[in-house]
Amino acid sequence: MEYGAKSGNPEKQRVPCIVVGVFERRKPSAALERIDQVSDGYIGGILRRGDMDGKAGQTLLVHNVPNTLCDRVLLVGCGRERDFDDERFRQATRAAVRALNRTGTRDAISYLTDLNVRGRDVNWKVKETVIHTEEASYRFDRFKTKEAEPEGRLRSLIMGLETRRDLAAAEQAIDVGVAISKGVSLARDLGNLPGNVCTPSYLADQGLQLAKDLPAIETKVLDESDMEALGMGALLSVAKGSEQPAKLIVMEYTGTKDGSRPYVLVGKGVTFDSGGISIKPAAAMDEMKYDMCGAASVLGSLLTVATLKLPINVIGIIPSSENLPDGKASKPGDIVTSMSGKTIEILNTDAEGRLLLCDALTYAQRYEPVTIIDIATLTGACVVALGHHATGLFSNTPALTKALLHAGEATGDRAWELPVWSAYQKQLDSPFADMANVGGRDAGSITAACFLSRFVEDDHWAHLDIAGTAWHGGKRKNATGRPVLLLTEYLMNQVDA
Ligand code: BES
Ligand code: MN
Ligand code: ZN
Repeated sequence: MEYGAKSGNPEKQRVPCIVVGVFERRKPSAALERIDQVSDGYIGGILRRGDMDGKAGQTLLVHNVPNTLCDRVLLVGCGRERDFDDERFRQATRAAVRALNRTGTRDAISYLTDLNVRGRDVNWKVKETVIHTEEASYRFDRFKTKEAEPEGRLRSLIMGLETRRDLAAAEQAIDVGVAISKGVSLARDLGNLPGNVCTPSYLADQGLQLAKDLPAIETKVLDESDMEALGMGALLSVAKGSEQPAKLIVMEYTGTKDGSRPYVLVGKGVTFDSGGISIKPAAAMDEMKYDMCGAASVLGSLLTVATLKLPINVIGIIPSSENLPDGKASKPGDIVTSMSGKTIEILNTDAEGRLLLCDALTYAQRYEPVTIIDIATLTGACVVALGHHATGLFSNTPALTKALLHAGEATGDRAWELPVWSAYQKQLDSPFADMANVGGRDAGSITAACFLSRFVEDDHWAHLDIAGTAWHGGKRKNATGRPVLLLTEYLMNQVDA
């Protein structure tokens, strides 16, 4: 999609479609008011007939509006004017793009960027418009042999601005929005890929490809013998039942010349989680191809950070494996030794994510990071606790918690904090090893976080459980790209912080 920005009156625009907002109870936005005036109340008349009330998410396409130079006007419901906030703005943007993609319109000018969103400037509105236009236009049709909607989809979107003075800022915000969207789309594509294509080796190739495309990224891939030498017995135990070799993908983005300490992102990369010997039920097991969405969000975030050339250093670490049952697979009761030297009794082979992550967290410490954030589709219990709206956030550092919660609020990619109190730790007691890999039914997401916390020392660490937010299940099955928006916002906020 092409983006641009321009100032000027809506009725003077010679385009296939103009997009304007309508607030609830048929209250026109400023741009609509102008069009209504020049057209002698043509639109007002349509609204009065009751075809469009202005409810959030409604759209109505109007043709042949007198005295304008456009072919059509798309009216977009924005809800009540005084409730028009961040989320309503995004919703209106997505509704408009979906409607445009259903028409023959390939080029449009949107005046939604002209609407007032409390506390938000033009920069923010332009950036969000790009992100949510891409979000609404996203399709994953790589495995369809016929094109689903061959007719003209939207190809360019110009954002109408109130004054010329905002033009330069808008152009910059477009670049930022496009860079962020590239990261989100990469994460979604990788998530949506089936497990027979997206294997640990495939993810490793993606990491190597990033390094090829972006000179500031260097990637190395550790294979099983490298991991053996490092003593990563926990990570390797997950891959034992699989024909696909495990990989540890390490991507280093250098954005500063002074060798300053990096931010580390660690993403769970289980390319298919059958549960292993503690096998999962068959229903919806296909969705366990999404068990690498943490890894996907790390790759996506690095793509964005490197495209924006952020002046910080960021390391992405992806421990990747399949989790399958086999004669060689790990069994309940097996005891393994992690890279840290701590021993783990595997009581449930389906709690594999933490086994991969614990060795990756130990490995991460060699970078002496400013912060370590791990991202994982870790527990079904997190979906029970928070549903599909909030990512579970666990941390040992209140300032980091605050920064991540704030990044979530600013982007709509929200997280909610759950405790990692030491009182929960004893649920992980094992009679034979230093700890068990599961802590029983109660507080399953918290005991998973407690397990991880044992592998970070004095690091400023946070864990994001994205089990409920990384993809939509059922009929609308699709990766969401979360939490790339949260992570990239957090990292952008670290520049000069
Ligand atoms: N990948 C799953 C977590 C998951 C389940 C994410 C459902 C999204 C939807 C993880 O590896 C897992 O299987 N966790 C177990 C942990 C349990 C054995 C302690 C779970 O949540 O059931
Ligand atoms: Mn599992
Ligand atoms: Zn898993």
